[in-house]
Order: sequence, then C-alpha cells, then structure tokens
Amino acid sequence: MDAERTSNGGDLAVFASGLGKHFGSVVALDGIDLRVPRGACFGVLGPNGAGKTTTVAILATLLRPDSGTARVLGLDVESQRSDVRREIGIVFQEPSLDRELTAREHLDLHARLYHLDRRLERVRRALDEAGLGPDADRPVRGFSGGMKRRLELARGMLHRPRVLFLDEPTLGLDVAARAAVWERLRELRASGDLTVLLTTHSMEEADALCDSLAILDRGRVVASGSSEALKRELGGDIVTLELERIATVEETLGLVAGVRSVVREADSRARVRVTVEDGSRRLVSLLDAARPCGVVEVSLERPTLEHVFRKHAGRAFERHEGGA
Ligand SMILES: Nc1ncnc2c1ncn2[C@@H]1O[C@H](COP(=O)(O)OP(=O)(O)OP(=O)(O)O)[C@@H](O)[C@H]1O
Ligand SMILES: [Mg+2]
Repeated sequence: MDAERTSNGGDLAVFASGLGKHFGSVVALDGIDLRVPRGACFGVLGPNGAGKTTTVAILATLLRPDSGTARVLGLDVESQRSDVRREIGIVFQEPSLDRELTAREHLDLHARLYHLDRRLERVRRALDEAGLGPDADRPVRGFSGGMKRRLELARGMLHRPRVLFLDEPTLGLDVAARAAVWERLRELRASGDLTVLLTTHSMEEADALCDSLAILDRGRVVASGSSEALKRELGGDIVTLELERIATVEETLGLVAGVRSVVREADSRARVRVTVEDGSRRLVSLLDAARPCGVVEVSLERPTLEHVFRKHAGRAFERHEGGA
C-alpha cells in the first residue's frame, strides 16, 4: 500500500492522493485518495454535500485543490492543466445547455472549441448516435430531460476523450430515459479505450454500470472496492425485524449464533436490522429470540449496495429522519 501511495499514478486513469478543499469554513474535501484503473467505470457515491462534485471539478481541472495531488492519465491536474483538458470529457451535474441553441449548434460549437477536423461529418454522426438526428435543428428549449442529457453526453464525447467525468448523469430522468443513457454509456465503453468516472445517488445505477466504487461522506472516502466485495464485507445476509416493543432485543439477538451486528434503524423506533451469516438457516433462532418483543414483520435479504451505503454513510439517514 505504501508503494502504491508513493506511486505517481502514471499507469492509472485517475489518481488522487490526499485531496483537500475548503470553501470558507466549510471543509468540502478532507483528504481524498482515489485510484481508477484505465478502462474502468468507477462510481462515486455519497450523500448530499459529501464532496462528489468538488472531487470531479478538481479532477477535471475546473477547481484547484488546497492540498494533495491528482493525476489524470499520469498528467498533473494543476501543472498540466491544458494537457488534462484535451484528454477528458465532462457532463456537469447542473444542465449546461443554451436553451436557444439547437442540438447541432451545441456540438458544432464544441467541435470548433477543440479544433476538430471533419467537423460537419463528426457532428452529424454524433447526433445520429445519440438518437437526436431528427431533432438536430430544434432549439434545446423544446427537448425532454432525456434528450438534453443525451446531447450533453454526445458533447462530452465529441472530441473522443479518454476519460469521461459524469456528475449525476441520469439525474431527473425517467426509467426509460435512464436506460437509454446507460445503454449509450455501455456502447461508448465497448467502442474504445474509455475510462468513466461517474457520481450518482442511485445504487441501481452504480450496480448496473460500475466495476468499482468509492463512498464519500463529509469529504472522506469511507469505503471503496467492487460492489460485490463491499457487499461481502458486510458479512452475511440481512434480516429486518419489525417489532411491537424494542426492550433489550439488541442484546438478545446479538447472542444468536452467526449474528455479526444488530442495528436499530434510525428511521424507526421498532425496526432492527440484523446482519447474520447464512440467514435462512438462522431465521428460526432469530424469531425465537425476538418473540418477547412481538414480531410484526420479518424479511430476509441478500445484502444490496444500499445496505453497504447505510453502513458507511448512515448518518445521512439519521439527518433526514430527525434521529428518531
Ligand atoms: N462554490 C462553493 N462555495 C461554497 N461552498 C461550496 C461550494 N461548492 C461546494 N461547497 C460545499 O462543499 C461541500 C461539498 O459539496 P459538493 O457539491 O462537492 O457535494 P456533492 O457530494 O456533490 O453533493 P450533491 O449530492 O448534493 O451534489 C458542501 O458542504 C457544499 O456546500
Ligand atoms: Mg454534486
């Protein structure tokens, strides 16, 4: 690990070490380390305000860090800014299209900015590939959310970047539009040597697209790894018990064989979440142990990414549920 830390990240698509950033008295990033291999699709998860957009902005050279270093394809984001910019594409969290311009005009402008050759042909092909051919000459103000997102993606990819940053690429899209964006991303990755770093609030999206993830909370990486590895780390199945009264059930359940943890859910006075090895075999013993508290409902699940998220960034749930 020490050798990895001291490496300058030249072999990686994205490398960040000890990134720090504050805005006035707000600490947005408090020492972020990231390692994204070339060709990966890497997800950054975390509650509102965790530091995802700030991280993306630093990696995309739009913001300077206060401390730490970051490299994209081995290029330093501070001292080799313009080299980094040539290699990356970005889709912002906030929509960044001009309502009065058409789809074709947006792409044409971008092609000029990057001095791309065969401009008209490239733009035409990008519009077709994004499924926007028939709407190419309409002003964006008449586009649906999904069309706008596909246009932003087409623009971010027009100059064939090797690393694509997507800050909440499917925010506000319906299920079908989201599926279309996912499909387009898969096509783009399949058609070349592309690394994608995306932020998302959707566990489903992270599971569907990402090879590995980092969960951020309060400007720190609180967990990272593949989705499967993070789920495995939870150490078993999840049994959720809804009870009439809670009493001292945590202690009693903790004594059942195979139980790793018992957590009273912050959003409910009478719901406990038990992580237990081999859940289906232990279920009867758990129900026996909980019987004095009156079991109203029980469920058994394989761990999901949401369970992982709750474990590492559960504070966000307490905040919203008022710490019940
Ligand atoms: N330009 C800015 N000025 C002041 N504070 C900022 C600025 N940008 C970000 N912050 C603060 O930094 C912290 C991290 O913000 P950031 O936008 O990176 O979070 P995020 O994880 O992207 O959140 P979200 O999920 O809501 O998009 C927050 O506390 C935010 O209020
Ligand atoms: Mg953000």
